[in-house]
Amino acid sequence: MALRLGDEAPDFVAPTTVGPIQFHAWLGDSWGILFSHPADYTPVCTTELGVAAKMKPLFDQRNVKLIAISVDPLRSHMGWILDINETQGIKLNFPIIADPDRTVSLLYDMIPPQATNANTVRSLFVISPAKRIELVLTYPASTGRNFNELLRAVDSLQLAAEYPVVTPANWHYGDDCIVSPAVSDTEMLKLFPKGARRVKSYLRYTPQPNA
Ligand code: BEZ
Repeated sequence: MALRLGDEAPDFVAPTTVGPIQFHAWLGDSWGILFSHPADYTPVCTTELGVAAKMKPLFDQRNVKLIAISVDPLRSHMGWILDINETQGIKLNFPIIADPDRTVSLLYDMIPPQATNANTVRSLFVISPAKRIELVLTYPASTGRNFNELLRAVDSLQLAAEYPVVTPANWHYGDDCIVSPAVSDTEMLKLFPKGARRVKSYLRYTPQPNA
C-alpha cells in the first residue's frame, strides 16, 4: 500500500555497500532521506549520486543521513560506485541498498504496478527522528532531482518541527516565515519576540525564529 505523510517509515534489514543495515537502528536519532534509482549504470542516477555525495556535508549539518537504493545487486553497485567516483569527481560517502529481490522497493511502493520491468522510479522519502514520513517525492526516470530543493524542504520541515511556523512559497533559510494558523494573535505576540506582521487574519509573517 502507498505510504502517506505521517505514516511510520517501514523498518527493514538489507544489504548495502557499507554492510547490512537495520534501517531504524541505522537512522538512530537522525533525520533520513531514502531515495531510489531506477537502475545502476544509468546516466541520470550517476549524476544524482554524485551531487548527493558532494552535498552530504550540508545534509550532515542538518543531522540528515542519506541512503540510496536500487534493485541491482551489491556486486553491480560496487562496480558502479567506481564509475560514479571517476565521472563525478567525488568519493561516494553514503550507503546504497542492494534490493535484487525488491523487498524494500515493494515495502516503499517504489515500483509502479504498470511497470514493464522491475525498476523503481525516483522515489524519495524524508523521515523524521520519530521515524515518520515527512515528505514524499516521486519523479520519473527521465528527470533528475534537485538536491538544493531537498535541503530547502528539510530546513522548512525542521523549522516547523521546532516552532509554530510554516514557510511560504519559494522560502529560503533566513527569509520571513508565516505564523501557524493554529496560533492566535494574542499568543503570537508572546511566542515571537522578534515581532509579527499581520497582513490578513490568516496571513501573518514573523522573522525566522532561529536565524
Ligand atoms: C537514468 O538514470 O539515467 C535513467 C534510468 C532509467 C531510464 C532512463 C534514464
